[in-house]
Amino acid sequence: MATAELAGKHLVLGMTGGIACYKIAELTRLLTKAGATVQVVMTEAATQFITPVTMQALSGRPVYTSQWDARVPNNMAHIDLSREADAIVIAPASTDFLARLAHGMADDLLSTLCIARDCPLLVVPAMNRQMWQNPATQRNVAQLRADGIEVLGPDSGPQACGEVGDGRMLEAAASYEAIASFFSPKILAGRRVLLTAGPTFEPLDPVRGITNRSSGKMGFALARAAQQAGADVHLVAGPVALDTPWGVFREDVQTAQQMHDAVMHAVADADIFIGVAAVADWRVDHVSEQKIKKSAERALPSFSFVENSDILAAVAKLPKPPFTVGFAAESDNLDVHGEQKRARKNVPLLIGNLGPQTFGLDDNEVILFEAGKATKLPRADKQTLARALITEIAKRLPPVAGPVL
Ligand code: C5P
Repeated sequence: MATAELAGKHLVLGMTGGIACYKIAELTRLLTKAGATVQVVMTEAATQFITPVTMQALSGRPVYTSQWDARVPNNMAHIDLSREADAIVIAPASTDFLARLAHGMADDLLSTLCIARDCPLLVVPAMNRQMWQNPATQRNVAQLRADGIEVLGPDSGPQACGEVGDGRMLEAAASYEAIASFFSPKILAGRRVLLTAGPTFEPLDPVRGITNRSSGKMGFALARAAQQAGADVHLVAGPVALDTPWGVFREDVQTAQQMHDAVMHAVADADIFIGVAAVADWRVDHVSEQKIKKSAERALPSFSFVENSDILAAVAKLPKPPFTVGFAAESDNLDVHGEQKRARKNVPLLIGNLGPQTFGLDDNEVILFEAGKATKLPRADKQTLARALITEIAKRLPPVAGPVL
């Protein structure tokens, strides 16, 4: 989970009335764990769903609910509470609160805080699908966006009322990521990034196949970091058990051939291609249509293999390739093999994993190979490393072409 963007940030977390208030307990925990200070302010309606005592315990700060709170000596809570804030986040943001914000109302502590603010305002809507779709709500949301307010979500899916549709609040982890993303420097703004991640699965028959131990963690961490850096991200993922990073377009595939086709279909739109997937080098040339039976009389099965196409090399060979980045997991002599592989695949940058076995681990240590140069990055968790790699990639990009005059 991304942490660096939020360390030391001071957030006012405004809660309004809605069943999604329960998600804010977890969101507060994630924000404080990332090093942010969280000042909770609740509307009267929010206190009907979760108590200020719970929010005080989780945020480690007294909670404010009233404009007339005697704890603020100058009676200026609406100014004082947000004075040091890096942002105000309203979560959950109810239909009513969005309407009041859109119209500049200031009739309780939270709405007054919002209108008196001198910092960015983010809202995380939560409501029933019909309330969300109502033209009045849509008008209000459009107005909020026009006023420069960030609207995070909503999500789609089953709702507390039993209906299914748009309007439910982003889950706590996704809200956290969306807030972290807001604070990330937008070094890839306007860039389109295509990535592969995870293993591939090469079938032998309808139930068996060959795969590898790639967890997809590094590729997903890079997709998340690229999204947070402002890029439009398309992630082609082999079979992994990972959640899609917030704001990332994900396409699931199984085999190396499917991964190749998905990449080739999307690559013309990409400015950057990062091949992180551990793609199977071979597939069996004839996949059995029936499950291969085991029997005492029959000989053991044998398979012949054909080579899969090298996706990374194929992208690098395109007449107008995107900035192409490869990965390599070498078990020995990385210094020599890394540079050789980079040259062979004809990519400007190849990231070598130090250590033979990084699959599934949360930490990693890498060397960047580029023509005539090798740079080691310090060992770090995969998300921190992903952010560092995105910074390194951004530094090496050709400048964005300006308009032709
Ligand atoms: O040759 P090797 O598999 O070690 O190369 C690793 C790099 O090449 C990774 O970036 C991987 O995603 C990419 N690759 C690929 N298609 C293959 C094999 C590897 O894109 N068939």
